[in-house]
Amino acid sequence: MVGMRLLPEDSDVAPARTLAATDLISDDDRSVAADSWSIKSEYGSTLDDEQRHADATEALAAVNNRAASDYSSDKEEQDAEGVSSMLGFQSYWDSAYADELANYREHGHAGEVWFGADVMEIVASWTRGLCTGICQNHLSNHVGDGEQVGVHEKDLADWSVLDIGTGNGLLLQEFAKQGFSDLTGTDYSEGAIDLARRLADRDSFTNIKFLVDDILETKLDTTFRLVLDKGTLDAIGLHPDGPIKRIMYWDAVSRIVAPGGLLVITSCNSTKDELVEEVETLNQRKNAVGNQEASSDPPPFRYLDHVRTYPTFTFGGSVGSRVATVAFMRN
Ligand SMILES: C[S@@+](CC[C@H](N)C(=O)[O-])C[C@H]1O[C@@H](n2cnc3c(N)ncnc32)[C@H](O)[C@@H]1O
Repeated sequence: MVGMRLLPEDSDVAPARTLAATDLISDDDRSVAADSWSIKSEYGSTLDDEQRHADATEALAAVNNRAASDYSSDKEEQDAEGVSSMLGFQSYWDSAYADELANYREHGHAGEVWFGADVMEIVASWTRGLCTGICQNHLSNHVGDGEQVGVHEKDLADWSVLDIGTGNGLLLQEFAKQGFSDLTGTDYSEGAIDLARRLADRDSFTNIKFLVDDILETKLDTTFRLVLDKGTLDAIGLHPDGPIKRIMYWDAVSRIVAPGGLLVITSCNSTKDELVEEVETLNQRKNAVGNQEASSDPPPFRYLDHVRTYPTFTFGGSVGSRVATVAFMRN
């Protein structure tokens, strides 16, 4: 890990709070959240949540010789070992979004733009380029050499987009501006989804869908052609059980990215090389399971590309950038 702390660009997020999530959500907020798309009632989980925890713990224990019973829940705060922070807990985010909602109601502020507006715009336009490139390749395989092929908004309409841990949902608004139209954002914090919906309504992006969902216990039973993550894996990795939760994360995204689809991760806690290495480890683990079950499935993800235009700095002789955005293709 590059060892940076996950903070918004112009952070005014208050220090860790001790209030419980239930203290932070008013009756008004609860009814708005209840009005939001309730996936628990619309979708049936395809996997038992306890089983997911157990599988991930077992996988990590196999790698690290760590006891399977070490897994602890995200819903309680506990003493941390190693690199962890309050940002790994749902209670932190519930509290942060309660503040941001109050700020929005009182002052109309949209809230934090994690990693800054520039990064958000780069992620959206760079990803659009990847998607149109894929469409063009596909088209050029089906038309004669030299024939002009163009990608239009209708091609982008074929890209169902999911933003995991969407927060205030502004990244999806940026994707809408780039021409994507099938847009969904999820977050495990009801306050985030409430804020994202209010901002989308305010900014006339009424077609963006938002729903409460914990990616590690996801109730989504559909796949998406493009899955985005800006800062969410970073936050997940900051929980004291970060290594186990990261395995659960990769298992979840392996199921929700459609074959041939893309996963685009933007991180300030992992470098591009670390993310690629993490995916290779995932692939090896899947291969090991596949071999046991005599399966010939290809590994879930392969590295496709990364953003090369972020400003870089040199530290200790190494060149790095503050943020990494990496695209993986689902096999
Ligand atoms: C650093 S913030 C980034 C928010 C947003 N992606 C952005 O770029 O503005 C991390 C987000 O991940 C959400 N999050 C963390 N763990 C999650 C989980 N297991 N499932 C869904 N959302 C999660 C938090 O509520 C928070 O909104």
